[in-house]
Amino acid sequence: MKIQAKTVDIAKATADMLAVFVFPGKNDGEVVFSEEAKRLDKKFSGLLTRMVDTEKFTAATSKTLFTYSPLAEQNQKVLLVGVGVLDKLSARDLLHLAAAVVNRAKDVRASELVVAIPSELIDRFGSQNFAELYAIGTRLGAYSFHKHKGPAEQAKVHEIGSVSLLTSPSKVSVVQSGIDKGEIFSLAVTFTRDLVNDPPSTTTPTYLGDVAKTLASKTNNISVDVMGKTEMAKLGMNGILGIARGSSQEPKFIKLHYQGSSSKTVVIVGKGITFDTGGLSLKPAEGMETMKLDMSGAAAVLGVFSVLSELKPKVTVVGLIPATENMPGPSAIKPGDVVTAMNGKSIEILNTDAEGRVVLADALSYATAKYKPAAIIDLATLTGACMVALGEDVAGLFCNNDVLSDDLLKVAAASGEELWRLPLVSAYRELIKSSVADIKNITGKRYGGAITGALFLQEFVPDTIPWAHLDIAGPAFTEKGSPLSPKGGTGYGVLTLLNYLESQK
Ligand code: BES
Ligand code: ZN
Ligand code: ZN
Repeated sequence: MKIQAKTVDIAKATADMLAVFVFPGKNDGEVVFSEEAKRLDKKFSGLLTRMVDTEKFTAATSKTLFTYSPLAEQNQKVLLVGVGVLDKLSARDLLHLAAAVVNRAKDVRASELVVAIPSELIDRFGSQNFAELYAIGTRLGAYSFHKHKGPAEQAKVHEIGSVSLLTSPSKVSVVQSGIDKGEIFSLAVTFTRDLVNDPPSTTTPTYLGDVAKTLASKTNNISVDVMGKTEMAKLGMNGILGIARGSSQEPKFIKLHYQGSSSKTVVIVGKGITFDTGGLSLKPAEGMETMKLDMSGAAAVLGVFSVLSELKPKVTVVGLIPATENMPGPSAIKPGDVVTAMNGKSIEILNTDAEGRVVLADALSYATAKYKPAAIIDLATLTGACMVALGEDVAGLFCNNDVLSDDLLKVAAASGEELWRLPLVSAYRELIKSSVADIKNITGKRYGGAITGALFLQEFVPDTIPWAHLDIAGPAFTEKGSPLSPKGGTGYGVLTLLNYLESQK
């Protein structure tokens, strides 16, 4: 599928599918047509107006009405798309809008889709930004993961040939440059989705290491180092090594380094549990298959690195991935065991299913020992409790620095990713004190699990380094699917990270 900017009169467009936009009016039930929708309506002798009236269409956001051109010589498919109240339209709504349009086009097996962009939308978001978001929504909405299906099923998957965004001659080049940028961002997100969606026995720690090596081999400003058990042991990474004991797969500690033009360094860390059975504190069978999602943080870091050399942010970026399976094999770590993380803190393991924090302890220790980062940002599918707090669509943000927190919240909103700050309640630190070690990996209490998970991580970062923890357990994976993402990995966090890195000078 090609996405391109064009200047063509919608009334003269010959593509087999056209999309035009309408808005809710000031009065109840009133619908206002965009200029392009008006032109098409006129060409079709008022068909679109009659459709809106009969269907009582309200032009609510992402709602669509489908018809065919009434003109005999053309067999065009026509989609009327509701924008919703313009002043309330968020970046996220725009992604959904674009995804809704491309999904409808896919359903009716369109081969060429022409979308008449109304000036109102361009004015609201800015030409470049609008085009960027619209391209991302289109690309992500068109995404499907079907490589493991048989040939007959694969053949049924419909690919749209081209999506053309119609705009005025003065805007066409800036819209094209927004599309190009959106394409790069989308590639990173789909790269992440593919990694999460692949089966867990494929995406082992070794496989993630190989993916990182392949990425680095394609460019000269990204270098990679994949450490195995021996090197980790030398560094004292007993958290990762402890969690890895139940698995036959060797754990890996993956380091990626992108050299920007600035010496300012941002470290991004991704939880890389390539399958989380819970270990000896075994999870129930029902739903366990979704625990292939537990490397979504790692996949987001790899997705980001897959496009860094094309995006060329100024800032230098280090990516760290502690990768291991969490399995209940014969040598598995046991509840009651104590491990000492790389920074010297001892951890009492009381529940082997709270493994993410234990592997991140080493990764965060490593980040603070080896670099002088301007910020450390970790992404982790850390707690079910964060999903209880914020639901499936919203990630939790924990941060020791208000500037970093505000930057991330702003950038996430502009990227169309839901992020909500939660507090690092210092009084709750008591709850992770252990009677036999420095800290324990669970509280044994029912409440505040996302917070105590974050507080555990905070033990491995000094207060002097701005640090943010994104608990992405909810939004990293969708079990119901949406127009913007089919069932499976969503690639959450990639857009926010890319926009954040770009914003750093
Ligand atoms: N990987 C899970 C968290 C998770 C749950 C991610 C659901 C996505 C969806 C994590 O390792 C885990 O099992 N956490 C436990 C912690 C508990 C034992 C303190 C949890 O959330 O139940
Ligand atoms: Zn777990
Ligand atoms: Zn986990």
